Amino acid sequence: MGVSRSRAQEIYLWRNRSCGYYPFLDASAPVGLVPARRASAPVGAAMKIALGVTGGIAAYKAAEILRQLQDRGAEVQVVMTRAAQEFVRPLTFAALSGKNVITEMFDGTSGPNAGSSVEHIGVAQSIDALLVAPATADTLAKFANGTASDFLSTLYLATTAPVIVAPAMNVNMWQHEATQRNLDTLRRRGVRIVEPGSGYLACGMIGAGRLAEPDQIVEAVMETLGVAQDLKGESILVTAGPTLEPIDPVRFIGNRSSGKMGYAIAEAAIRRGARVTLVSGPTAINPPAVAEFVPVETTQQMRDAVVVRFPDASVVIKAAAVADYRPRQTASRKIKRAGNALTLEMEPTADILAELGAHRFEKQILIGFAAETENVIENARGKLAAKHIDAIVVNDVSKPGIGFNSDRNAVTIITAEDSLQVAESSKFDVAQRVLDTVVRLRAARLSSAQASGSSIQLEKAENK
Ligand code: CTP
Repeated sequence: MGVSRSRAQEIYLWRNRSCGYYPFLDASAPVGLVPARRASAPVGAAMKIALGVTGGIAAYKAAEILRQLQDRGAEVQVVMTRAAQEFVRPLTFAALSGKNVITEMFDGTSGPNAGSSVEHIGVAQSIDALLVAPATADTLAKFANGTASDFLSTLYLATTAPVIVAPAMNVNMWQHEATQRNLDTLRRRGVRIVEPGSGYLACGMIGAGRLAEPDQIVEAVMETLGVAQDLKGESILVTAGPTLEPIDPVRFIGNRSSGKMGYAIAEAAIRRGARVTLVSGPTAINPPAVAEFVPVETTQQMRDAVVVRFPDASVVIKAAAVADYRPRQTASRKIKRAGNALTLEMEPTADILAELGAHRFEKQILIGFAAETENVIENARGKLAAKHIDAIVVNDVSKPGIGFNSDRNAVTIITAEDSLQVAESSKFDVAQRVLDTVVRLRAARLSSAQASGSSIQLEKAENK
């Protein structure tokens, strides 16, 4: 295929590397800066959680709980009681959360209401949930009795967000009638109690009182927030963004993909409990907190990154806008302007999704994307069959205001059995519908496997 350069093509075909992102895609962007990763709004509004840490041996475990909450895409504000600070220094949580830890009622040095002594109201109104882990007998008593004697107990009274507590204490304290009565009071008020486990306690005794496991506590928070954990056990490989094919050391052929759709899928999948690997072409947005982020540039690099990870993936969602052609040769030196017409000889790139479709395993679910401008549904159905995939998410990119570089999208999700129209909505909502399709396909796969007597392991797509 020969590509002749024209003035109109120049802006798209001859983008150069002088800028980390493209000024014509974002008029407000300062031209000439080269940020490695430009700050961006989260694709789905981040869940805001206040994590109360109270004074017990298990206080150190709150660091792991914080990390797991962040892994699910939550923004966490840590609040420590005075006793908690005897066990763990606030600095640990400040470093992990990237925020000042609230330690005093009248500290007044941090937060949006610094100096005004109403910070607890600000925090109370902004959070989606209050989690207290570990929760001591004293904190449970304060909550049950409505005592507002420190920041955490005041926050409990001031917030209307759901409250989850994970108690940890000595077995006798746990079993004491006073503690159990306080717990009953809290239960009646709708507070979710994550029951402690049994075993050796730090005090040397054996019995109930050990803080529940961090993943159990985080799961309780997610359930309380209504975030389904229906992708637990799935290992999802997502591709996103454009691929760029070099022409010479400074120029490349690219496309308008922003990466927003793929990043939204990755973020939504994390929240729903999946382990996510994100292989991404260059974008100007921050990746979500995936288990593995693999930045790539060319189609070949994307292909290699995907193929090597394919055996461990139970689901692959290919939202990347992959270049179909690349220059047959990359000039080793910058091509100088000669004044006459220039012809680039192009060759096809690897069709990554078709390659996966040809080597797929029974247990894997493959989902592709198709950006079409005409015969939208018909073309998409053709790709579904030709690439041996389970679903294709198609959008009509000729429609204004949706698709490339927009925060919104309108798609049709097509499987062999049916098609689902998703009306224009945020890319995060579209991502949720794509993941609903994964859940539906997995359920169908499991029931047909059960019917035929074979078993499917979700932990790992075992490849034989
Ligand atoms: N895709 C891929 N490798 C390529 C081209 C596409 O893996 N070299 C994947 C995309 O990530 C997407 C799906 O295939 O999930 C469909 O991409 P699309 O560009 O719409 O389809 P093509 O097969 O390239 O067909 P055409 O561009 O001719 O419409």
